[in-house]
Amino acid sequence: MTMTHLCKKTVVTVVNGQLPGPTIEVTEGDSVIVHVVNTSPHNITIHWHGVRQLQNGWNDGVPMVTQCPIQPNQNFTYRFNVAGQVGTLWWHAHVSCLRGTLHGAIVIRPRDGTNSYPFPKPDREVPVVIGDWWSIDLAEVDRKMQDNFFDYFPSGSTLNGKLGDLFNCSGVHEDSFMLDVEPGKTYLLRIINAGLFSEYFFKVASHRFTVVGSDANYVTPFTTDLIVIAPGETVDALLVADARPGKYYMVALPNQAPLPDTQTPEPATRGIDRLGNAGNAGKPAAVLPVMPNQHDVVQSLYFHSNLSALQHPRHRVPQVPKRVDEHMFVTLGLGTACRHGGFKCNWDVESETGLVATMNNISFMVPTAPLLPEHYRHVGSQLSTLVELPDKPPKVFNFTDVSLIPVGPKEKKLETTYKATLARWFRYGSAVEIVFQSTAMLQGDSNPMHLHGHDMFVLAQGAGNFDEARDVAKYNLVNPPRKNTVVVPNLGWVAVRFVADNPGVWYMHCHYEFHLAMGMTAVFIVEDGPTANTSLPPPPVGFPTCSNNEYLVPR
Ligand code: C2O
Repeated sequence: MTMTHLCKKTVVTVVNGQLPGPTIEVTEGDSVIVHVVNTSPHNITIHWHGVRQLQNGWNDGVPMVTQCPIQPNQNFTYRFNVAGQVGTLWWHAHVSCLRGTLHGAIVIRPRDGTNSYPFPKPDREVPVVIGDWWSIDLAEVDRKMQDNFFDYFPSGSTLNGKLGDLFNCSGVHEDSFMLDVEPGKTYLLRIINAGLFSEYFFKVASHRFTVVGSDANYVTPFTTDLIVIAPGETVDALLVADARPGKYYMVALPNQAPLPDTQTPEPATRGIDRLGNAGNAGKPAAVLPVMPNQHDVVQSLYFHSNLSALQHPRHRVPQVPKRVDEHMFVTLGLGTACRHGGFKCNWDVESETGLVATMNNISFMVPTAPLLPEHYRHVGSQLSTLVELPDKPPKVFNFTDVSLIPVGPKEKKLETTYKATLARWFRYGSAVEIVFQSTAMLQGDSNPMHLHGHDMFVLAQGAGNFDEARDVAKYNLVNPPRKNTVVVPNLGWVAVRFVADNPGVWYMHCHYEFHLAMGMTAVFIVEDGPTANTSLPPPPVGFPTCSNNEYLVPR
């Protein structure tokens, strides 16, 4: 459909005529069936972000990894269940930039009722989906991005699809997302960062939050006036309407926005919406919260370090594996590579090379046929061409020394970068530890790394280069939070563990759309266990096949 914001008409691809799309509200243990009818001109898949999908990789919705996309005028029915997870997840198209408008919340309530929440029962629950508004067709952004680097930026930030009334075009103010609250009542905000582009700072003027969950896992409650949320993450937070009756802005400020920000009257402040308290007479000016400075990376490290798993007699949580079978150290970076893979291209011709994003200095190339069906049949030319993601980067390196940032495309400080379909195989049940290290190549960005089909225990995070002798002592092996998306601090590191107990082929990638499209991605292939209960079942009926080629072009 066409939407007009900021005086400009834009083509957007949406689900059921809504932005954000419909919320899926379920109870823990439910089976969910979603019929996807693709009436858009694009190839589409839908990914159920954070849903564990135990033995259910066929329904994970990643084009060319788990399935051929659903083509225009075709249908596919996804089936999955939400056992063992309570809280907020979300769904989104997994076709590059289109997920900017094809997304919605998944709310999973406890089977024994909301009285069993391990925190005060809220009077109301409200999904708050943070998004970007792009004044250009996202399919166009996607094409440009595949063509090489992009120079498009979002023109605003949205809360539940609204830009907020500080945005205007020739004096006409945009709509705000309004949350009317009653004094003294408690609201559970289910905050989702569905943005393509940035981590966000989230605040409500004159109010504080109690954070109670993240990525559909309960956390030990803590109080804060600032929530920091990266693309792919969810945060559940209680807000008590305990301020004087009045109007208070709810603000989502991208901390990695391009500067200077020219879109709003309030420099560097975007995505402003309003929280109205009842009993408010007259028209007092709404109160704006004081936001951190953009690019303040310490706030993110601080917020994420505060997360720990809730220990509660009624909520048994899986324990972190104490013994580790596979250790990996994965650096995140950027580089230049031959555009069609390998090393053989003319490095002096700009059209033959491109800027890519890397893990251990290799950039992911999308395969030409989906991997999961080939893995299931134990056949496949694709599988034999996969390149193993190494356990370490090519050489020891001072990863966070900014003086080593390359000054031009020819100057390669890391080993030569190349493109390949990166994969890592794991025996069923292996306990895996990964330290993700951000490098100076990335400059201002922290990186939300998302693993499909598994939750990761986040053991520790820190600034600077990971130092095994010093940092292993910081691991939290008692109550680490479990997350499907972990934030690698800018110029810092994060250590995670997970058990590879879900047979199939799982995407693991940075949740910034640009890093993802540029190749900061790998697939984790978890082999079958010894029994039918630990193996990948056959594909569902009606599983899509590939016949047109929008996503068959390697990039
Ligand atoms: Cu939220 Cu691979 O995605």
